[in-house]
Amino acid sequence: MKHIKLDAIDSTNEFLKGLSSIKVVDNFTVVTAENQTKGKGQMGSSWTSEPTKNLIMSVLVNDFLFDKNRIFEINIVTAITIIEALQTFDIPKLSIKWPNDILSDNKKIGGVLIENCFKNDCKIISIIGLGLNVNQIDFEQLPKASSLAVICNTTFDKESILFKIVEKLKYNCLIWKDNKEIFLLKYNNLLFKKGIPMPFVQQSQQKFMGIIQGVTTSGKLKIILENDSIVEFEIKEIQMLY
Ligand code: BTN
Repeated sequence: MKHIKLDAIDSTNEFLKGLSSIKVVDNFTVVTAENQTKGKGQMGSSWTSEPTKNLIMSVLVNDFLFDKNRIFEINIVTAITIIEALQTFDIPKLSIKWPNDILSDNKKIGGVLIENCFKNDCKIISIIGLGLNVNQIDFEQLPKASSLAVICNTTFDKESILFKIVEKLKYNCLIWKDNKEIFLLKYNNLLFKKGIPMPFVQQSQQKFMGIIQGVTTSGKLKIILENDSIVEFEIKEIQMLY
């Protein structure tokens, strides 16, 4: 595995994107940083992480996506990969909060930001960024966040977790094509609050109650509403309130 270790960088995703724009970067090249000064989160948010404590990583995957209409497939594989890797470290009560937050019990321990670069030759290069809270203990400003160390009451070796994630990612990318239904089933079985009535808020700020049924292959969240209709929502359209 090609591993570029950085002490500090604005964003590992930006670094890897920049590198791949000027040269050919091997598949599954990993960039990690001890400190990220401008970490990017989903939907324009920022990602903060206490220096040295957590896993801040980006992996380049260049032979997985071939169809811009099936981008969500890499989210499915990524989320399952992270969960499977964490299961080997006995992290309890793992789930995926749609689209790809990683939770233990009801606390967010990891966030994923996947950025896809569409090349002229129709190839798609994916930069999978993961911020995994590993040994950080203090989450005073973030009541819904936690770390492996807080949950398990012990410290973890970040590098072992990194190796396990990349090993599983390579394997899952390899077997994906012949096992798509199984991956989708796994993803849906791991969905946070699936089957439980929950409040949601729409972009328009309108609130409603609904029950998550699962996600579609294109990544839409299927929710059954109070009038028994099933509606599919795009990623930016709704947020679960919990
Ligand atoms: C989220 O909002 O939940 C996604 C957070 C993703 C953070 C990771 S940290 C490594 C990589 N580099 C970034 O700038 N962001 C991702």
